[in-house]
Amino acid sequence: ITLHIENQQGEARSIEVEPTGSLMEAIRANGFPELQALCGGCCSCATCHVVIEPKFLAGLPAMSDDEDDLLDGSDHREESSRLSCQVPLTGEMDGLKLRIAVMD
Ligand code: FES
Repeated sequence: ITLHIENQQGEARSIEVEPTGSLMEAIRANGFPELQALCGGCCSCATCHVVIEPKFLAGLPAMSDDEDDLLDGSDHREESSRLSCQVPLTGEMDGLKLRIAVMD
């Protein structure tokens, strides 16, 4: 599947990934070091914060209370913010667009 990723400098790049693992892992594996993902995907650091293009949001699995609480701690939360480690990749996500959020 193809994902369209905009980095914190506003530069966009498309990546081809297999629909397995998490969105965070796919982004990291394709060279976006600003997505630090310091906790390694256990929903405790919020350094994997991304802003999903709104039209794709409904197709993603719902967020847990833990993810919601962590995002609430960010000064840069937006309507369509997600923690990318909490979003499993699926074949239906082909074409997904997102922007890597400014981290606190
Ligand atoms: Fe730490 Fe996602 S990698 S919350």
